[in-house]
Amino acid sequence: MKARYDYDFFKESADYILNKIDYKPELAIVLGSALGSLADDIENKIEIDYKDIPNYLESTIEGHAGKLILGDYCGKKVVCMSGRFHYYEGYDFEELVIPIRVFKLLGVETVILTNAAGGVNLDFQIGDLMLITDHIKLMGASPMRGPNMPEFGDRFFDVTNMYTKSLQEIARNSAKELGIKLQEGVYYFYQGPNYETPSEIKAVRTLGGDAVGMSTVTEALTAAHCNMKVLGISLITNMAAGIMKEKISHEEVGKIGAEASEKFKALIGDIVSKM
Ligand code: HPA
Repeated sequence: MKARYDYDFFKESADYILNKIDYKPELAIVLGSALGSLADDIENKIEIDYKDIPNYLESTIEGHAGKLILGDYCGKKVVCMSGRFHYYEGYDFEELVIPIRVFKLLGVETVILTNAAGGVNLDFQIGDLMLITDHIKLMGASPMRGPNMPEFGDRFFDVTNMYTKSLQEIARNSAKELGIKLQEGVYYFYQGPNYETPSEIKAVRTLGGDAVGMSTVTEALTAAHCNMKVLGISLITNMAAGIMKEKISHEEVGKIGAEASEKFKALIGDIVSKM
């Protein structure tokens, strides 16, 4: 079997981006649903539409901007992804490796992955932030399925500490100092685009999931494969199916995202300045 993409495929995207800047970003931040306003705090911005980057993907969902924003953020050179890509849009896992591999070739060493998620743990409340300590993805193949690309990492790779312990410690300290409640738990990947059934959520809870969402895991695995550090933070925008009386809606997810954005930005900013 031939790899669908080769090294030059990713390098072409990275070279296009590197031609627009005179530095190498060290940190990537992937902004989840409704959390895009963090990009407003980036200084000396250079914005690149996804559609202009060779071999890159295009965002298909409302509320996802679809551009890379490069610049200075809390003392670091960053590349920020405003709008991300999901399996439910029709991309397969092999395609979802593209952004993170391109970031690796830009020189990025650390990725912060953020997302909106449904709360499964009954101790959580809407509007809580959750530090991702691990994930469960029982559905679908690995994004690294197919011929291995040794330029990025080993065929078989350990993911015991995929969510980097030292970054989790920084996040805990930042939250404490800022007086922000930071829950912790396991992110359970669900393929979407429908939200889960109440019975699925009961199963997720039995299996050890604390929050459920439709993103993040392919990015975390791709980053772990190429030896990048990963920090994951979820915003609990709703309690998962069967817990609340109200219907779960994309609008409500966006509304809670907007309400929590100041707290979220304060936390991420402090974490980045401590990295
Ligand atoms: N389930 C899956 N994904 C989500 C949810 C949810 O309840 N809320 C926000 N993203």
